Amino acid sequence: MAERQPILEFENVTVSFAGTPALDDISFLVREGDSRIILGAAGSGKSVLMKTALGLIKPDSGRVKVFGDDTSNLSERQWFAVRRKLGVLFQEGGLFDSLTIEENVAYPLENNRVNKPSAREIHERARKALEFVELGGTLDKVPSELSGGMRRRVGIARAMVTNPVLTLYDSPTAGLDPITSYTIVALIAKERRVHNTTTMIATHRYQDGHFLANYTYNDATGRIEPVNRDGGDAGTRFWVLRSGRFAFRGSQSELEQTDDPYVRNFMKPRTDSDGKQI
Ligand SMILES: Nc1ncnc2c1ncn2[C@@H]1O[C@H](COP(=O)(O)OP(=O)(O)OP(=O)(O)O)[C@@H](O)[C@H]1O
Ligand SMILES: [Mg+2]
Repeated sequence: MAERQPILEFENVTVSFAGTPALDDISFLVREGDSRIILGAAGSGKSVLMKTALGLIKPDSGRVKVFGDDTSNLSERQWFAVRRKLGVLFQEGGLFDSLTIEENVAYPLENNRVNKPSAREIHERARKALEFVELGGTLDKVPSELSGGMRRRVGIARAMVTNPVLTLYDSPTAGLDPITSYTIVALIAKERRVHNTTTMIATHRYQDGHFLANYTYNDATGRIEPVNRDGGDAGTRFWVLRSGRFAFRGSQSELEQTDDPYVRNFMKPRTDSDGKQI
């Protein structure tokens, strides 16, 4: 099998704020079809890693390569072209209160300075993205009329409306109840499968990683099913950040065998509604 394309590579990336490193000599390579679950304490560097991948924060040293190309010397205009292939759900949500739901989702298409689709196509794509997240009836509403979980789904629709190659989800389930969180990660699994998107997710919830490592969306049946381990699935890997460095990188089973007490913090036992371990 041909080697999968490199999508995002960090080479010895350091980012500091007031002399304190938020990312400390980080290196990794994510290839087409990979999924990465990024765990770590508050302030460990998850969001800074994502913003650095998007070119919103520039590294103090090291190199960020997107789709195999070094981004070190890109102008802001050239970054716009790169970002067109990247989808993002920011931790802060980032919906515009004064825009309708449709306008919010259409925003990345409207702002495509190089290759802006027609108004009709923008409307169609925004509508389809909202249908994908099962919010087809909300086009004319404004964000304040929706629940927190619905707003998060609008954010997912906006992240996927450009058909990105790589999608970065920063804390997509933060602050949501377990059932709503489940619907969010199920949508992420669906988007990952249907559009074959390389996916990186920062989260506090081990359950999110467990779900994405073990379940997939079946396009033929429209259902969530266990991952077929023989099916050539590229696999989901876990990263645990501690003070801007990797404390762990590996599979879920490797994660569950680790003795590092910091890393173990992020692996809560999984229990069903009767409190039984699953
Ligand atoms: N714009 C900024 N200016 C100064 N310091 C910053 C900035 N952004 C992040 N930091 C610092 O960088 C470190 C990493 O922050 P980051 O937001 O990546 O943490 P995180 O892992 O995403 O945390 P959380 O789980 O709370 O979202 C923290 O110490 C934070 O205070
Ligand atoms: Mg964060």
